[in-house]
Amino acid sequence: MKKWLYGIICVAFLGLITACGGGNDETKEDTNNTQEQTTDEQEQTADAGDGDALFQQSCSSCHGGDLVSGGAPDLDKIGSKYSKDEIEQIILKGQGGMPGGLLKGEDADAVASWLAEKK
Ligand code: HEC
Repeated sequence: MKKWLYGIICVAFLGLITACGGGNDETKEDTNNTQEQTTDEQEQTADAGDGDALFQQSCSSCHGGDLVSGGAPDLDKIGSKYSKDEIEQIILKGQGGMPGGLLKGEDADAVASWLAEKK
């Protein structure tokens, strides 16, 4: 009698799985290269591959392009100290001598997930 209900649950469940299925692959070097070719648009459209580029723009002046050579604390192992969300909060709100709001929204999100991988 309640077959229709199972039907709906099944469809909803399958929808969830496929929606979450497209995870990030680890081919960041490749995606970076293709993204650098779209230079005529100045607008920043952030996705995971932009983390490196955005960091170079907004953060490397203090933290160093290689994450360790700047005057600010080293970030090369920051992923084992903070979660992605905590890093995002530091970017948005600042911390100590670091100003907040250097990056916002998707850009902050992209750099936070990129840094959270540094362990
Ligand atoms: C004006 C220089 C400056 C810039 C630009 C800057 N930072 Fe910082 N950052 C600092 C300083 C100084 C600290 C140490 C703050 C403290 O705890 O006193 C810091 C701390 C941090 C920390 C915490 C480190 C730790 O071990 O607690 C993270 C994460 C971080 N910065 C990420 C970023 C990111 C991502 C960007 C780019 C959006 C950025 N920073 C840009 C100066 C800067």
